[in-house]
Amino acid sequence: MSSIEIVEGDITKLDVDAIVNAANNSLLGGGGVDGAIHSVAGPELLEDCRNLNGCETGEAKITDGYNLPAKYIIHTVGPVWKGGNNKEDELLAECYKNCFRLTEEYGIKTIAFPAISTGVYRFPVDGATQIAVQETKKYLKEHPNLEKVIFVCFNDEVYSSYKNYL
Ligand code: APR
Repeated sequence: MSSIEIVEGDITKLDVDAIVNAANNSLLGGGGVDGAIHSVAGPELLEDCRNLNGCETGEAKITDGYNLPAKYIIHTVGPVWKGGNNKEDELLAECYKNCFRLTEEYGIKTIAFPAISTGVYRFPVDGATQIAVQETKKYLKEHPNLEKVIFVCFNDEVYSSYKNYL
């Protein structure tokens, strides 16, 4: 039976099969969760990412977790919020769908997501968490072999927003 959990904390500390990175199109690191993941994973991650040739918004690419407790990192690029009329909702939903697609390909059983796009990319928290929960519930209904999905919250606003939708 699959489970969905909400936790507060630093995603780089989670010992799960895969953590998701809210990256940018270059995949060459940045601030926020991207910066935290690269600083813990170490310089080999950046070398690996250089060979991935970037990532389209809504797409997802996978690397080893290197010095992280997680085995894999799934890098996805969320949409920058531009007011809501630039397919932001659809693109954010694509991030979750493409991350789940990679869990299937790599036999990943436990995955942790940050609140993609809700930081630097300014996607409204409630809209983003609703999409995250909706896409996750949809996927788990069809794919019970994904055992656990964890939503990792770095602040109370995100935490209470996920609680609302779950
Ligand atoms: N663990 C879990 N969540 C975190 C962590 C962490 N260590 N650090 C930040 N977060 C949270 C933020 O509080 C926010 O809720 O991750 C969510 C996503 O915020 P950002 O990291 O700013 O990502 P995003 O809004 O998708 O913007 C992506 O920011 O860091 C750059 O290179 C990145 O250009 C890209 C852009």
